[in-house]
Amino acid sequence: MNQYETVLHHIFNDFKTFENSGKKATYIPELAHVDENLFGVSLTCLNGTQISLGDAHQPFSIQSISKVFSLVLAYNILGEDLWKRVDVEPSGDTFNSLILLELELGIPRNPFINAGAIVLADILISHLQNPKEDFLKFIHQLTNDHSIQYDLKVFNSEKSVAYRNYSLINLMKSFGNIHNDIDTVMDFYFRMCSVNITCEQLSKAVLFFANDGVHPISKEQILTPKGNRRINAIMQLCGFYDEAGEFAYRVGLPGKSGVGGGIMAIHPGLYSVVVFSPKLNKKGNSTKGMAFLERLTSELNNSIF
Ligand code: DON
Repeated sequence: MNQYETVLHHIFNDFKTFENSGKKATYIPELAHVDENLFGVSLTCLNGTQISLGDAHQPFSIQSISKVFSLVLAYNILGEDLWKRVDVEPSGDTFNSLILLELELGIPRNPFINAGAIVLADILISHLQNPKEDFLKFIHQLTNDHSIQYDLKVFNSEKSVAYRNYSLINLMKSFGNIHNDIDTVMDFYFRMCSVNITCEQLSKAVLFFANDGVHPISKEQILTPKGNRRINAIMQLCGFYDEAGEFAYRVGLPGKSGVGGGIMAIHPGLYSVVVFSPKLNKKGNSTKGMAFLERLTSELNNSIF
């Protein structure tokens, strides 16, 4: 057993009795059906060694973690021009807030709040030939696993209740920051959020963020080293919405959460880690996932700070 394996097993066992005050996301009706006791962890080292525990093989809804993949694709297309359409500042606000968007004339604070990711979806629709297919292909390329798919039930479920997201896109359209048809953009945004993925697959998919943008298993260059630094910085400052400060303080790694209960985090030069536990805290981040990662970096004594 290597050091990570020993520590992960030991923390995982302790967390079997974790008192979880969180609540599953139910605003997307389909997510209310998920078993709230699921708990999986997968850590992948740069040499490809993967340590997986609990429900690490159980697919879950990627939700906002998809925003890191759409950001990589959009950044690779537009480069620094991307920042004319979306900013890189923490929002200090909920993921679906409308307030700043009105004050800041339709330019979202960052690419990880819903408004920012809707702009990313708009950009990808303008530049990709087959956005839906190309996005999934990118995930297949990163995981070398072609079984990963969109979940149409989750897609339809979210679409049927997405009043706030439609408000966001309408507001941005009124400011000229959405170039395509609103329904086309929203359908693509909901698709990306509906990807079903396991901890193991996701941990492998994001490993390039820990390796200067080069996927250490396939050796493919996914991002330039500069782009990689930029996106890791945005994850650190904006990956957890109005809890980004708390995550930096307690865990100390760049990362991204989703309301499906997943959290992924990166230790540059060392590993990627994904935790899945559906119950969320009031800020929309997995309660147990965050506590688990706090224990992990404390016991390994190796946050980025
Ligand atoms: O647009 C939404 O509300 C969801 N598809 C994604 C939100 C999300 O995952 C926020 N993350 N914690």
